[in-house]
Amino acid sequence: MSNHSVTIDTASCIGCGLCAGTCAAHNIEVKNGKAKTILEDCVLCGQCTAVCPREAVTISGYDAKPIAKKGTVRLDPDEVLDVIRFRRTVRQFQKKEIPQSVLEQILEAGSLTHTAKNMQDVSFVVLDKEKDTVEQMAVRIFKRLKPIADLFSPMARLNKIHKHFFFFQAPVVIVILAKEKTNGILAAQNMEFVAEAHGLGVLFSGFFTSSANLSRKIQKALQVPKGKKVAATLVLGYPGVKFLRSAQREKPDVKYM
Ligand SMILES: Cc1cc2nc3c(=O)[nH]c(=O)nc-3n(C[C@H](O)[C@H](O)[C@H](O)COP(=O)(O)O)c2cc1C
Repeated sequence: MSNHSVTIDTASCIGCGLCAGTCAAHNIEVKNGKAKTILEDCVLCGQCTAVCPREAVTISGYDAKPIAKKGTVRLDPDEVLDVIRFRRTVRQFQKKEIPQSVLEQILEAGSLTHTAKNMQDVSFVVLDKEKDTVEQMAVRIFKRLKPIADLFSPMARLNKIHKHFFFFQAPVVIVILAKEKTNGILAAQNMEFVAEAHGLGVLFSGFFTSSANLSRKIQKALQVPKGKKVAATLVLGYPGVKFLRSAQREKPDVKYM
């Protein structure tokens, strides 16, 4: 991100100090009625550009300008809660392709998701042609581990490691890579929301994520860069199952102090 820097146009700046007030790094000061950055070093979170009433603050080096917010984006809390309540993991998929435009929107949701220190360390591997090959690599690992799991878990004994154990013949799998796992997981959750809004069903394949992080061979096949790991694996497709009601859950376990 070194090709970006915060620029303040002194002609348009009215010295209101809103940019300085939002800067979490305290890296902007207002002097003689004009805002200016203190250090070059910056996490480039962009809050200063987002808050400026005069578009005086910009960050150089991006292809696109910030998008002006029209009106207020309002979500109905009950509807949001229902999206969460009625979301179910999908493991049965229709043999129907996902349009590229939908896929791109899901990926955009992932890359727009906030990251710690604005690291923007999250990247995506969309498995299409290579899906079966990497799935079979994971199948081989799990087949080797299964006898050990069977010793301790009756549930493991009940389950076979079949050849679609990880991806359930879904049309698309997105492997999310990140330096900080939390960043990748947050991206995954937002991607799931957008996928659901498009009528897709989603499975978080934790088993594939574990296999990939165990296996150099899978990491090589996925071209995982040095310093990154697999944070989450999203298995996506149009659902081949319809859920009719919510699933029961424990009440919130909360302590007020
Ligand atoms: C991080 C994570 C990893 C998961 N990994 C798998 C997996 O590898 N295979 C699988 O069949 N389900 C997996 N699941 C699905 C959970 O089993 C499922 O969310 C849970 O049983 C609750 O069901 P629901 O999602 O329908 O509410 C995973 C879920 C999460 C959140």
